[in-house]
Amino acid sequence: MSPERYAESWTRKDLVGIADLSPTEIGVILDTAESFVEVSQRQIKKVPTLRGRTVLNLFFEASTRTRSSFELAEKRLSADSLNFSGSGSALSKGETLMDTARNLEAMSPDLVVVRHQHPGVPHMLAKRLDSGIINAGDGAHEHPTQALLDAFTIRRAKGRLDGLRVAIIGDIEHSRVVRSNIHLLTKMGAEVVIAGPRTLVPLHGESLGVEVTHDLDAALEGADVVMMLRVQLERHQRALFPSVREYFRLFGLTEARLKRAKDDVIVMHPGPMNRGVEIDSAVADGPFSVILDQVANGVSVRMAVLFLLMAVRTETP
Ligand code: CP
Repeated sequence: MSPERYAESWTRKDLVGIADLSPTEIGVILDTAESFVEVSQRQIKKVPTLRGRTVLNLFFEASTRTRSSFELAEKRLSADSLNFSGSGSALSKGETLMDTARNLEAMSPDLVVVRHQHPGVPHMLAKRLDSGIINAGDGAHEHPTQALLDAFTIRRAKGRLDGLRVAIIGDIEHSRVVRSNIHLLTKMGAEVVIAGPRTLVPLHGESLGVEVTHDLDAALEGADVVMMLRVQLERHQRALFPSVREYFRLFGLTEARLKRAKDDVIVMHPGPMNRGVEIDSAVADGPFSVILDQVANGVSVRMAVLFLLMAVRTETP
């Protein structure tokens, strides 16, 4: 089916989180992304779909994958991109976030992609700005396009999401990726188990509709998908485990431990990876790893999100 047909059922101006989305809407994004895959496989990787439209990339926090992937997605759709970094801007002279956003919106972008260290910033901008807002990660709250590209990668590898056992392991407490993934995977019928040290797993874990364990081997048992998470030391207010060596011994994914998962398991990581902390290089670069597929799929998924949100704006001038 063409992307235009998928857009007929899309009504949202913004994508601020997975929590808001229905399974049908998630399916529409994944199917639209599938229709964009072939653009990135062409020699000339460009279609005129968003020619004349403008996307503002507003990044207040470091990013390698998300930022590059959005920029590439915009270029492949022929949109004009304006890239803004918090550092080096008038924020350092005391301008508020809202004034910065309103001034940039005065230049008429159609969509704004925003990453911010504070949870809720994309929601606030979505309420106050006319432009469509895409959350590229807000604090430890949500990272919706990461969860969508993760789901897209799983669906391409396994052919489905429902009924799969997905083990998510590591620093659950500080991860926006896990929050978005739990919303998405449970909505789509997957069985999710989260695992990590007691200090890095929220006390209310079970209330999220997932199994909780502090035993890596139990989490890996029979898993179809293993998603490793980075230990986010920059978000820790104090030491939350004795040492990196101890963390790796208890929660680091090695080839030996991965044997507990299904024979056709896939291993994922949203990046950036800390090799030798949460994952051994032999696994990260090994035959079960789809980590670089996740990065490649991110472009198609972000093309789909940009396309769908822009289609809503085209219908309502
Ligand atoms: N996965 C992810 O958000 O990576 P970046 O921080 O490099 O964008």
